[in-house]
Amino acid sequence: MAEIRIDTVRKVFGKFTALKDVSLTVHDREFMVLLGPSGCGKTTLLRCIAGLEYPQRGRIYIGGRDVTDEPPRRRQIAMVFQSYAVFPHLTVYENIAFGLRMQKKRDDEVKRRVGRSADLMQISHLLERYPAQLSGGQRQRVAVARALVMEPAVLLMDEPLSNLDALLRLQARAELKRLLQEVQTTTVYVTHDQIEALSMGDRIAVMQQGEIVQVDQPTRVYDDPMNTFVGGFIGSPPMNFLKGALRGANGASAVSVGGQTLQVPLRLTTPPQGDVLLGIRAENIEAYRQPTPGSLPARVLVVEPLGSHLLLTVQVGEEVAKVATRTDFPVAPDETIYLQPEPGKIRLYDSQTKLLLGASA
Ligand SMILES: Nc1ncnc2c1ncn2[C@@H]1O[C@H](COP(=O)(O)OP(=O)(O)OP(=O)(O)O)[C@@H](O)[C@H]1O
Ligand SMILES: [Mg+2]
Repeated sequence: MAEIRIDTVRKVFGKFTALKDVSLTVHDREFMVLLGPSGCGKTTLLRCIAGLEYPQRGRIYIGGRDVTDEPPRRRQIAMVFQSYAVFPHLTVYENIAFGLRMQKKRDDEVKRRVGRSADLMQISHLLERYPAQLSGGQRQRVAVARALVMEPAVLLMDEPLSNLDALLRLQARAELKRLLQEVQTTTVYVTHDQIEALSMGDRIAVMQQGEIVQVDQPTRVYDDPMNTFVGGFIGSPPMNFLKGALRGANGASAVSVGGQTLQVPLRLTTPPQGDVLLGIRAENIEAYRQPTPGSLPARVLVVEPLGSHLLLTVQVGEEVAKVATRTDFPVAPDETIYLQPEPGKIRLYDSQTKLLLGASA
């Protein structure tokens, strides 16, 4: 059992609070992704789990044991850093064996464990090579093998794919996901790449300015962002947020947007009245050439053919939104089209707090 429990951890650097009383539980064998923009505290949180930073407040438990006051080597963790720093003068074999040699393990045990971990990462045929003779993706797998060989209870990875070019990153992502599924070690994986987070994580913890704002399965984070920050950060393009006003009671609420009224069936016990933000993703808006009942007229500003779909930038009332359509949708800039958001996909946000008010029914 290697559950990680982070309990109200605060980390302050001088006058700057990098972690504002963060709490998070990572289940045994779970693959948890920490996602957020640069400077939000991802590395700092990972370093606190590793024991490389000491929090001013809060406790950290690994496998039920309070490790807050324990040094890194007593925490049964292994960490893969962003600059995965393999030793250039050592072969792949000796790179992977390094930690075991430090622990003065016997040769036969080193051989057995290096062999197994190289097998897992599918680099057994590369053991005699030097890092300079490897591709970026292979070097990255050496770094992971070097961590796994320590048989850690917890694997911590800080942007391990960020040194790779876009195509290699895509391959390495799928490969790493498959390999780590076999290992079944509790993993905390840091990235600022939302696609990586969506594709790899069992759950995603989204961070914003030293706080965790949402912890959920990828589909939940994508479909029901807790606030407009999460909806804007996850997904490409970001979720649209249109200013609107809410009227009507539960079950039959109407939101007026850009002078048009949309019926939004809401599941709220106390529906708020007044200003709201209507959140809707580009692919959840149907576009028509002719007006349909209750549709929003929009002026097309930009048409971008993206291969699998067209991405339209449109003006709705005072606001700009993104709409995805089929590639055969006939449309040109300056034309007027009519938009129909899928009722089940509309999310309403408080215009002040930016928090999710509730999902439509
Ligand atoms: N040793 C330090 N001294 C002072 N400030 C620090 C220190 N380490 C981190 N910080 C600050 O804490 C904040 C969080 O840093 P952190 O490295 O955790 O961000 P991050 O989310 O990992 O960002 P990135 O995606 O750029 O790696 C930043 O504003 C950073 O400048
Ligand atoms: Mg970082």
